[in-house]
Formats: sequence, C-alpha cells, structure tokens
Amino acid sequence: RKVTVSVIKADVGGYVGHSSVHPELLEKARGVLSGSPLLIDFHVTHVGDDINLILTHELGRNNGEIHQLAWDTFVACTEVAKKLKLYGAGQDLLADAFSGNIKGLGPGVAEMEVEERESEPIVIFMADKTEPGAWNYPLYKMFADPFNTIGLVIDPKMHNGFVFEVRDLIEDKKIMFHAPEDIYDMLVFIGAPGRYAIKRIFHKDTGQIAAVSSTQRLNLMAGRYVGKDDPVCIVRCQSGYPALGEVLEPFAHPHLVSGWMRGSHSGPLMPVGLRQATPTRFDGPPRVVALGFQLANGRLVGPQDLFDDPAFDRARNLCNLIADYMRHLGPFEPHRLHLDEMEYTTMPMVMKKLKDRFIDLRMLKAQKAKAEQEKQKAES
Ligand code: 13P
Ligand code: 13P
Ligand code: MG
Ligand code: MG
Ligand code: MG
Ligand code: MG
Repeated sequence: RKVTVSVIKADVGGYVGHSSVHPELLEKARGVLSGSPLLIDFHVTHVGDDINLILTHELGRNNGEIHQLAWDTFVACTEVAKKLKLYGAGQDLLADAFSGNIKGLGPGVAEMEVEERESEPIVIFMADKTEPGAWNYPLYKMFADPFNTIGLVIDPKMHNGFVFEVRDLIEDKKIMFHAPEDIYDMLVFIGAPGRYAIKRIFHKDTGQIAAVSSTQRLNLMAGRYVGKDDPVCIVRCQSGYPALGEVLEPFAHPHLVSGWMRGSHSGPLMPVGLRQATPTRFDGPPRVVALGFQLANGRLVGPQDLFDDPAFDRARNLCNLIADYMRHLGPFEPHRLHLDEMEYTTMPMVMKKLKDRFIDLRMLKAQKAKAEQEKQKAES
C-alpha cells in the first residue's frame, strides 16, 4: 500500500512576537488531530512561530479531507491565539473559509506519496524566518554535489543521478533538470532562490520521489506583506537516496537566506535542535530544524531531533559570526534585501513625500542643450 506524508504548516500567532508558538496551541492541534479517523499517525511540532503538522494517511496528495483537517486545526489554534492575544493571530490564514485545497489559502504544504521500502527513513526539514528557495542550496548539495554526497560516486543505486523539478514562482512555470548533465543550466536558475525554487526531486532510474518542498509565496497570494513563507521539506534517505548524514551535511556549511527581521534581510540559516528553534536575535537568525522518522506502515517512528548534536556546534558558531558581521551593515544591502525582495517598504511613501525635491537631471541637460541650440541659431 502507498502511504502519504503531508507536512502542512502555518503561523497562526506568535508567542512572544514572532519567536515561538504557545504550548496551548500545540495542545489544541494535537487534540483536533487525535480525533480524526483519516490519519494513520501524526506529529505536531513548531519551529519559531510556525506550527508544523506532520500527517500520514492513505488518501494521496492534495486530498480535500486531509487539507480540510489541517485547515480546521489551524482555525481552532487561531481561536486559542486570539484568546491569548498572541501576535499576528491567524496570520497565515488568508482565506475566510476552506475551499477544497489548502494551497493558495496561506499555509505551506509539502506532500509525498511513497511505496514504503523495507526501511523508510525520512527527514522533515522545517525552517522559520526564511522562504522556500532556502532549500535550493542544501537540496542541490544532497542530490547533485559529489563533494557533499559520496553516494553519487560510489553507490551504484545513485550513480545515474536525480531529476530536479524547478518552479518559477513569479511566472508559475516548471522545468525539469537532469543531474549531473544539466547542472550548469540548472544553477543559473536555482542560484536565484527568490524566484526559482526546487519543488521536487526524483530518482532518475526508478522515477520515485526523493524530496519535496513547500513553494507557496505568501506575499504573492495575499498581495501584501503577511510574513515570509517559512518553508518545509521532506527528504527520503538511504538505499538509492542520500544517506542520512549526506542529507544533513549541507547544513554544516551555513548559507545565506532571505528572511530574518521583517522578512527583509539576508542572514545565515542556523541548524538547531527543537530546544533552540526560537529565533530571537533581530528575530533570527533564520532557523532550520531536522526531524528524522522511520516510517513503519505509515507510523511515524520518531522523531529524532537531528541537529541537536554537538557536531553542528561549529555551524551554529559560524552562523553567529556571520550574523554579527551582517548586522554591522544595518540598513545597507546586502544585509537588507534589495528593493524588490523586501517584504515591506516605506519607499513609495518616502518617494511621494520627496517627489518635488527630486531634480530631473536628464530634463535639465535637455533644456540646456536646447537653449544652446537656440542661441547658436540666433547668432547665425
Ligand atoms: P553502519 O556501519 O553504522 O551501519 O553505517 C553504514 C553507512 O553506510 C553509514 O553511512
Ligand atoms: P514570520 O514570517 O516568522 O511571522 O516573521 C515575520 C517577521 O516580520 C519577523 O521579523
Ligand atoms: Mg509566518
Ligand atoms: Mg509570525
Ligand atoms: Mg514564522
Ligand atoms: Mg513567515
């Protein structure tokens, strides 16, 4: 039988500010989910101010009943958040009512349907204070970089590589790239993670799913600033896929992602255990948690809190150094994101105020040239 893993997340109110989730909300979510006959198993957790519902079932991807269940759970949590006057209660629920599929309504979704192997280790990555393109760099390293994943070189079951589905988040298009043969072309796109995001990765020989991420862009959906689209990602490990340690290894070399304070800054993505998944310094730096599970007939055996390991201390230290350096830049790029990537801006307002103080130099030059011409004409 096939089992579907659905990871659905939303920020329905921060405690305190945007730093964490109040335990009462998590309890409420567990309460709602435990009453559902649709699920084989579930696990509720949070990273920063985002609630993550990890659900297993047999209903496949994009199932209306499962999405409805997640929506109802977030609505119930929002009621608690409103009662406690938590920050931004209902922040990610953009629609007033559920309408068949949770995509486009605000919450982030990553789902994969798998034929469970003899052993099915999976890792669920969940990040706060960043955006879906944040997975591009680690996914590329896991599935296409032999300096990260030695399995690409020495494991006969991986040696032919993987196929990447890349989404253009602005024009809503997709394209498939084959690794390793297309990697130079692919990097032109995925190196621009604000626009192009890796949506899915498939095993080239078997066509089986290897990884899937959430690629919802809240600001595009809402047409206004409502917070960054803190993303999730599911990755299968071992036998034909990267080993668990190969899946985690990219995070030992922290990369810069967009998000952080007010969704408008660049900063290092810090791998942390759940205990440390409460971004507070300048509302960050952005965090990523990795929970490992063994799927057993749909049962989520786990989790194992994979970054709660001293082997990632150096990465965390490096993130703090990078954070110090970036913070020195204050409101200057590239710490502050460039204009069209910022989640909110005062530019139109300031521009309007200063409109009359701007002097158009091109017009001035044209006027001068015209005056010169007329003077010459008069003289001749
Ligand atoms: P063990 O010998 O601990 O099972 O490890 C096997 C392996 O392939 C680790 O990457
Ligand atoms: P979230 O997207 O996690 O809600 O953060 C928003 C923000 O403005 C942080 O400074
Ligand atoms: Mg959010
Ligand atoms: Mg928030
Ligand atoms: Mg968040
Ligand atoms: Mg957010």
